[in-house]
Amino acid sequence: MSYLIGEAMTGGYGAADILHDCTIAVEKGQIAVIVGPNGAGKSTAMKAVFGMLPLRKGAVKLGGRDITTLSPQDRVRAGMGFVPQTSNVFTTMTVLENLEMGAFIRDDDIRPTLEQVFHLFPILKEKRHQPAGELSGGQRQQVAVGRALMTQPKVLMLDEPTAGVSPIVMDELFDRILEVAKTGIAILMVEQNARQALNIADKGYVLVQGANRFTDTGAALLANPEVRASFLGG
Ligand SMILES: Nc1ncnc2c1ncn2[C@@H]1O[C@H](COP(=O)(O)OP(=O)(O)OP(=O)(O)O)[C@@H](O)[C@H]1O
Ligand SMILES: [Mg+2]
Repeated sequence: MSYLIGEAMTGGYGAADILHDCTIAVEKGQIAVIVGPNGAGKSTAMKAVFGMLPLRKGAVKLGGRDITTLSPQDRVRAGMGFVPQTSNVFTTMTVLENLEMGAFIRDDDIRPTLEQVFHLFPILKEKRHQPAGELSGGQRQQVAVGRALMTQPKVLMLDEPTAGVSPIVMDELFDRILEVAKTGIAILMVEQNARQALNIADKGYVLVQGANRFTDTGAALLANPEVRASFLGG
């Protein structure tokens, strides 16, 4: 049984289903990556796993516990952190205020975690008193990831963490994400940069029209001629 699994998820925003029997899972200390064309339902699958989408069928389980009916906030309490695709930082608040906000469910001393985040992303310490809106795209994504880490999650879910950043910044972010995984956290992420993301993925999911098209190790998907031709640009 996987540490986190969205199992046979079917559901959507209204009458029509977007997800069809979709299964996504990730293990502790590993990285699972969801790739697929625009509109495939990648963000919808993430929302379903985080409890932002009612499921008509299927279940979400964390550490063997069925959490299908938990609210997103209760999922955070259960150990899940989520960085959405858009609006993932408060632009008028400082970097430090964003990180402190991230710790909203905690009433213990957050300073050690803050230091861990600053250790992972040193630029955030330097810019801690600047409004997040003044930071570059890559730095803002670091704020968003750091904010999610402030709850000390067991699972970190990232929807396109490298959107709009340069290849160099993308590589740096992926290195940091690998570092986070090495601490034992399970990482579930959606990526447009499919090739690079599958390169660091233990497990990969190719979604098409809300359904699982290919599921395998990152390496096997990268080596699969059909996956390469249709989803990785050859
Ligand atoms: N809030 C919403 N209400 C209604 N339909 C939505 C909503 N969000 C997304 N959809 C629809 O659900 C389908 C899947 O969208 P989703 O955002 O999950 O795709 P995606 O794979 O994340 O795409 P992208 O790569 O562009 O981020 C699309 O047809 C989209 O139009
Ligand atoms: Mg999306």
